[in-house]
Amino acid sequence: MVAGGVMTSAPRKQALAPDGTHPPIKALVCAAAAVSAIGGLIFGYDIGGSGGTFTMKGFREQMDWPPVPTDGAEEPGFVTDEIGWITSLFALGAVAGSIPSGWFTDKIGRKYSIILYSVVFTIAAVIMGCANSVHMLYAGRFIGGIGVGGLSMASTCYQSEIAPESIRGLLVALQQLSITFGIFLAALANVGLKTWSEGWRFSYCGNGFLSFALIILMMFCPESPRWLYKVGKVEQARAVLHKVRQDYEVDMEMDLIAEQEKEAQLAAQHHWSDLFKAANNMRYRTLVGIAITSFQQLTGINAIMYFAPVIFSDFLSTDMALIANLILMFVNFISTFITIACVDKYGRRSLLAYGAAGMTVTLLVVCLLSSDLADYKNDAAVSWTIVGFCALYVVNFAFSWGPVGWIVPAEIFPLDLRGKGMSLTTSANWLWNFIIGKVTPELLRQDRLDLWGTFLFFAAWCIIMFVFTMLYVPETRLVALEEIDNVVSGFRRLPLSTRATKARLAPEDQLPSRPRDITDKLGDTSPYNAGSVEMAPGV
Ligand code: BGC
Repeated sequence: MVAGGVMTSAPRKQALAPDGTHPPIKALVCAAAAVSAIGGLIFGYDIGGSGGTFTMKGFREQMDWPPVPTDGAEEPGFVTDEIGWITSLFALGAVAGSIPSGWFTDKIGRKYSIILYSVVFTIAAVIMGCANSVHMLYAGRFIGGIGVGGLSMASTCYQSEIAPESIRGLLVALQQLSITFGIFLAALANVGLKTWSEGWRFSYCGNGFLSFALIILMMFCPESPRWLYKVGKVEQARAVLHKVRQDYEVDMEMDLIAEQEKEAQLAAQHHWSDLFKAANNMRYRTLVGIAITSFQQLTGINAIMYFAPVIFSDFLSTDMALIANLILMFVNFISTFITIACVDKYGRRSLLAYGAAGMTVTLLVVCLLSSDLADYKNDAAVSWTIVGFCALYVVNFAFSWGPVGWIVPAEIFPLDLRGKGMSLTTSANWLWNFIIGKVTPELLRQDRLDLWGTFLFFAAWCIIMFVFTMLYVPETRLVALEEIDNVVSGFRRLPLSTRATKARLAPEDQLPSRPRDITDKLGDTSPYNAGSVEMAPGV
């Protein structure tokens, strides 16, 4: 379980339609899809919106910043500092917002938690849209982060509880797509808004319209049947199930909910320190999980997601820098489709290793091209080659450490400690996200690492990640979540290939060699669950 009550556990029995097919999906379930998609868009827009504003004339005037430096001149130190805070306070807010989210979703329910966090985000959007000083913007970014952090947990929880098993994977995939689409939308908006002196306000608050729409939409959605059951409203839970499932599915689903409740109670008996015990290889699993989600940020992906317009304006006009940024964000969005198509065809280890190698090579090329060896500021061909290699770098991230960086940590924990393990690994990711957002503008300064040095820094991390993957990441492809214990515990040597992994499983433990349902792959493991904390049942 990652987000409260969201458990990907044993493959479930599912009621079938009288003709043996999957039961038809009721229209109301589409609300769950819409909720998760809107939540993802809000999240993505926040990641992709701010970067483009730092070079907008109207924004700089409002913030009392001097015009964008030209001819290789440097931003004043205070501007670099403020850029870092505006960017990173969002990630810090997301950590703060996710911490009490488990409590809220248990106390007031999934539906009203979504409404609550959407209200928080909408207020933040108004603050950001009306900001007349950098401090007001800081406040808006932090509060907006709280809204997004809580919303991501609450809406993931809601959609996974209201959607039938058969389309849950689709919804998770939709979330991933909507995050990257949100990033792309923000980049697109920035291109359109750049010449309007007040346009930057929409780069920050445009998604406030989405959160407002979410408040209205949620008013018409039913509460999660699982939560209703949990708080003892069994008949109401049954009534909701009749609205969102076919009648012949209801009894089986009620049994399932009761079963899941028992699992959740078992999980709640564990203590956090159990994650670091030597028994059952828990310490190893936890450290690998933390390393993977931390490394995901140390690839430097958010240096690009947050600051590509700033980086590119060093050698392109500010207008062209926004276009180049748009291209990258489009590539990121499109590459997500590749991931969904191939993530289960190849082992996790090979994807991580190829991704780390690909990112190392592309970053090193960018490093060379932006060093003194090339006249990149005056040579358009070199400038656009840099943009091209940045795009290749994004592709390499998007098929590897982007998704797999979330999948493996979710797979290596035993079921009863998965919630706590995922909370810890996800928080580590958000903390690094905050640090990268804050320090990257400093690293980019010519008197610090400069552009080439910053790329070299991240390339060095990618090399470390490659070695780490080869030495420490077990192959978990084609292993049912319930059998993972047999793969990672009790053995001195780790299984480093799909074949070695399968050899560890007793024949009766092995899954048929078919790709598991996408829910098992991506379910509850997406960045959309950012910073989520486990909900103790009955809190
Ligand atoms: C990461 C985010 C990043 C996004 C880019 C996710 O997997 O966790 O930090 O912004 O990918 O697509």
